[in-house]
Amino acid sequence: MNREQISRIAHAGHPIKSPLDDASVHQLLECALPRGDERVLDLGCGGGEWLLRALEARPGLRAEGVDVSEDALTQAREAARERGIEERLTLHHRPAAEFASAEPFDLVLSVGAAHAFGGLLPTLAAARKHLAPDGRVVIGDGFWERTPSQETIDMLRDFADLATTMDRVAADGWTPVHGHISSRQELDAYEWACWGSLAAWALDHPADPDSTQALTTAATRRSEWLRVYRDTWGFLTLVLRPTPDGL
Ligand SMILES: C[S@@+](CC[C@H](N)C(=O)[O-])C[C@H]1O[C@@H](n2cnc3c(N)ncnc32)[C@H](O)[C@@H]1O
Repeated sequence: MNREQISRIAHAGHPIKSPLDDASVHQLLECALPRGDERVLDLGCGGGEWLLRALEARPGLRAEGVDVSEDALTQAREAARERGIEERLTLHHRPAAEFASAEPFDLVLSVGAAHAFGGLLPTLAAARKHLAPDGRVVIGDGFWERTPSQETIDMLRDFADLATTMDRVAADGWTPVHGHISSRQELDAYEWACWGSLAAWALDHPADPDSTQALTTAATRRSEWLRVYRDTWGFLTLVLRPTPDGL
């Protein structure tokens, strides 16, 4: 069982592949898409769930998603077809840093995919390149709730505390117009959903040659979460607008 197969099963009950619940996603999209006829880009779109929800609720919207996972893009394509919105969704199978478009976007999303660019600020720099003058960015990334151990940094990557994260974003020329800090409930629900789905799949498929690996992976990842980063790591999603020169 490869990483993509594990990810597909793990996210079966939590199609947003980040620790946000449905109400939080809805609220962030409402703030980011005030008109309903925007052009939207998602860098690291995964199964496209942010775009699918945005498109479903706004018939005038058009969206493009970029991801390196062919499996996730296939899932996004199938889901768009099922929801009858495939004509307004274009998917690109390539590294997000290599994506180029002749036309700018009113909203650039990148949630849980900052590792694709090497961190928060490089992701914002990439988003800026694609952004229309009055555009908005929705970015979701981790931060440290508490000082991490070296083991935690090695497992996740290095972040900053919340206030420092916000200082860096502001110094980079962005104004937050909305923000969401994932609650303990959202953070825990995400992990339980992922490792619970994988464990349940293993129990439901005892004769499958991959069932032992799936059960072991679920136990290992649950233990890493509880032992290494549950008390240290938080997740922040921001709606940003570029700060005009001179302000
Ligand atoms: C945690 S998932 C988040 C998916 C989606 N944004 C969401 O919130 O549901 C991270 C995604 O980034 C993608 N990814 C990782 N490296 C990438 C890269 N270099 N270019 C594009 N996508 C990348 C992964 O394939 C995965 O789908």
